[in-house]
Amino acid sequence: MRFDIITVLPELLESPLNHSIMQRAKNKGLLEVHLHHLRDYGIGKHKQVDDYQFGGGAGMVMRPEPLAACLDQLLAERAYDAVIYTTPDGKRLDQGICNRLSMFENAIIICGHYKGIDERIREKYVNWEISIGDYVLSGGELAAAIIVDSVGRLIPGVLNDETSALFDSFQDNLLAPPVYTRPAVWDERAVPEVLLSGNDKLIDEWRHEQSLLRTRERRPDLLGEA
Ligand code: ADE
Repeated sequence: MRFDIITVLPELLESPLNHSIMQRAKNKGLLEVHLHHLRDYGIGKHKQVDDYQFGGGAGMVMRPEPLAACLDQLLAERAYDAVIYTTPDGKRLDQGICNRLSMFENAIIICGHYKGIDERIREKYVNWEISIGDYVLSGGELAAAIIVDSVGRLIPGVLNDETSALFDSFQDNLLAPPVYTRPAVWDERAVPEVLLSGNDKLIDEWRHEQSLLRTRERRPDLLGEA
């Protein structure tokens, strides 16, 4: 899968996407992330990308022309399945959205800044508006990094154990069960006996039960949707 990310702060995205699983996915050729510096499409000598808000009010708005120039260039190069805009008034990101996005070949992410982008860009180009939660970030870059990470790890072959994403929290609207590693007893606390039994059926049952308990206790809203 290929992501093209349009941003005024490419530096903010370099580190999170160049380590661990994301780096491995890129090395394996399963994930491509291309950063596009919006400033390169800026207007005039100062490469301006934002301007005051019509109607008054504090805060700048990202001008349409630099965004349109960058988007037109990308859209002329290949077909995109999604043009995403990261914004607090978008649809809240969840595992279902991540699953859908992971089926795509090519996606653009526009990172908002200041008061946001001119509404006409949203009307003309954007077909996915995604929020990562009900709080306001100072820019869309961290939201874009979260989208690429949560979607990228679902691409087949990215995780070492192909099945492991299937058992993530939320994949079946349940939270994941508790996990343990060695030593079997630590700080006088023993690992639940069943996990040491070697009986796969009993272990599966125990994990499912724990998932249900945990979900009921912490996120009963998820069970309402199950
Ligand atoms: N930009 C600013 N806040 C955001 C949020 N909560 N989600 C996505 N993009 C944002």
